[in-house]
Amino acid sequence: MKNINLEIKAEEDAVPFMDLLLLADPSPAMIMDYLADGTLFSARWDGVVVGVFVLMHIDDVKWELKNIAVAPEWQKKGVGKALLQAAIEEARREGAKLLDVGTGNSSIDQLAFYQKMGFRMRRIAKNYYTLNYPEPIYEHGIQCRDMVVLTLELTEGGDG
Ligand code: COA
Repeated sequence: MKNINLEIKAEEDAVPFMDLLLLADPSPAMIMDYLADGTLFSARWDGVVVGVFVLMHIDDVKWELKNIAVAPEWQKKGVGKALLQAAIEEARREGAKLLDVGTGNSSIDQLAFYQKMGFRMRRIAKNYYTLNYPEPIYEHGIQCRDMVVLTLELTEGGDG
């Protein structure tokens, strides 16, 4: 794999990045809601925006990754992995000991993606998507109803 060198930058204005944010979350209302409390980061590779992520401070030890997306033409090239690594480093730099991420029961690819990076399943928020999203979401022919919360331990030797 080519060496991926991402330039990560905190962004004040989310408007130029909405298309990317919507790849990971179909609800503009939910995105606006967590952008109010979280920090949006853009990632550029050779000056081109290739992805975004949003981190939110939860408590003394925990941060949550609210959104992560790679532009479609840059997917499956290792950029997502580099982006997730950058989000982990950012959370660690802020003093986080745990990093949570939530994804749908139907998000098979994303469940693989996070677990390959060391995240472990921690709990299920039942009916999270049916209660919080106005339209039903289907992936792989499965209705997205529940949120699977995965956690990465950021302390040395942590195994989640
Ligand atoms: N099925 C299984 N594994 C997959 C996968 C898929 N569809 N897509 C990626 N992976 C695995 C890769 O095999 C790779 O593992 P490896 O290192 O063992 O080879 C690892 O995940 C990272 O792959 P990478 O090429 O870096 O991922 P990516 O650049 O395609 O980014 C996403 C992954 C999920 C960020 C990207 O597909 C995306 O932006 N999707 C739309 C938005 C989204 O769903 N965000 C997450 C919301 S919860």
